Amino acid sequence: MSNRLPVDYEEGPDGQIRWKSSPGGLVTALEPVMRAADGAWIGWTGVADRELDPFEHDGISIIPVPLSSRELEEYYEGFSNDTLWPLYHDVIAPPSFHREWWEAYVRVNRRFAEAAARAASDGAVVWVQDYQLQLVPRMLRESRPDLVIGFFNHIPFPAYGIYSQLPWRRQVLDGLLGADVIGFQRAADAGNFSRAVRRLFGYSTRGTVIDVPDADGGSRRVVARHFPISIDAAGFEEIARRPEVQARSREIRESLGNPETIMLGVDRLDYTKGIRHRMKAFGELLRDGRLEVEDATLVQVASPSRERVETYRQLRDEIELAVGRLNGDYSTLGHQAIAYLHHGYPREEMVALYLAADVMLVTALRDGMNLVAKEYVACRFDEDGVLLLSEFTGASDELRQAVLVNPHDIEGLKDAMVEAIRMPRRERARRMRALRKRVRDNDVANWSRSFLETLTGAGIIAPGVP
Ligand code: G6P
Repeated sequence: MSNRLPVDYEEGPDGQIRWKSSPGGLVTALEPVMRAADGAWIGWTGVADRELDPFEHDGISIIPVPLSSRELEEYYEGFSNDTLWPLYHDVIAPPSFHREWWEAYVRVNRRFAEAAARAASDGAVVWVQDYQLQLVPRMLRESRPDLVIGFFNHIPFPAYGIYSQLPWRRQVLDGLLGADVIGFQRAADAGNFSRAVRRLFGYSTRGTVIDVPDADGGSRRVVARHFPISIDAAGFEEIARRPEVQARSREIRESLGNPETIMLGVDRLDYTKGIRHRMKAFGELLRDGRLEVEDATLVQVASPSRERVETYRQLRDEIELAVGRLNGDYSTLGHQAIAYLHHGYPREEMVALYLAADVMLVTALRDGMNLVAKEYVACRFDEDGVLLLSEFTGASDELRQAVLVNPHDIEGLKDAMVEAIRMPRRERARRMRALRKRVRDNDVANWSRSFLETLTGAGIIAPGVP
């Protein structure tokens, strides 16, 4: 179960509905498991005010959960993306607390829980994904105590001092504690969660195990620990090895005027990603003459996201103003300082960009994992390219051979960019080899296997799950 279904809704001019698989990593990881276990995926279709019947797509049963436009505003744009998202990302933007949004969140979570309660067979495994659905585990356990319930939080879980600002902090924790296993990206997130449980409920925790008292005086064991998510590393490498993708990457370089260095940023247009910080650092390097526009270009792909939320609109304006200024100040007729692309691209085009990028910039101020960092590494079978990575991403726990940066420190960021650009070939290869091994050894199939094994008791897998 996830807020968004793994398929995109499209309505043709004839009013005909078509479904397209969305290429996310979660889908890749779970598709084989779902097929083998005769699973169903419960989620919202991405459009408001449409009641749709369950259907099959590529051998997976899809159970759509409807949302009204009002619920879209209050549960999705409001509570999920204007309360929880900024709060869980260390209040980089101020979270808004509105009681009507909370009520909509409760209502929609109940609808998801009811859909699962209807769909799940006896003793089935239900795996709930992400912060939009934190109340579902408790709601589901109450109506279906026979189920095995897992929850995975894809975004950070904040320190108590921040979490405790949430007016509904007890309800949310209690909602999550309905699960048997609660997964986080980093050990620090799981630690923050367990501390919040101790502070707010006084339950005892032993390592990753929390004893949750139940109604009849006994207790239930809940496991809260980290399971760092990953990508389909082999899938990305396979695309990167295609001759036409490599040709496209050469074409990209040429179309940028063959600069010595291409730096690349790929993000959803989100204030957590530190896009302004990297542009500031790059602009100052040009201003100070440490970089010349003929030698270095920054390509920034910023895919549109949550555009009806005010903070996102403001961010877009700020970024586009900064891009305009930088290009106005430093571009020449033949060379652009920043190539800014406010689009999403198909995976093949992204891989061609990764192959063209000498330096990949991941400067998030806070990020649960950051899969772009892992995708870049997976594509660089040529063992070249430098990953510059913020230490505030989950990925930095694993990708230690990246050039690690604190994106708030603009001077440090500038030095790191120059270091990355000047890094000798041998050192680039040494680091990239180590990074690639890490990403290959821990791919997304390992992630889902390890979570599901923990959920169903090591080795005792639900019938049919490979
Ligand atoms: C993050 C969240 C996901 C979410 C995605 C896209 O990765 O962890 O739950 O689906 O962003 O955001 P959107 O609001 O468009 O679903």
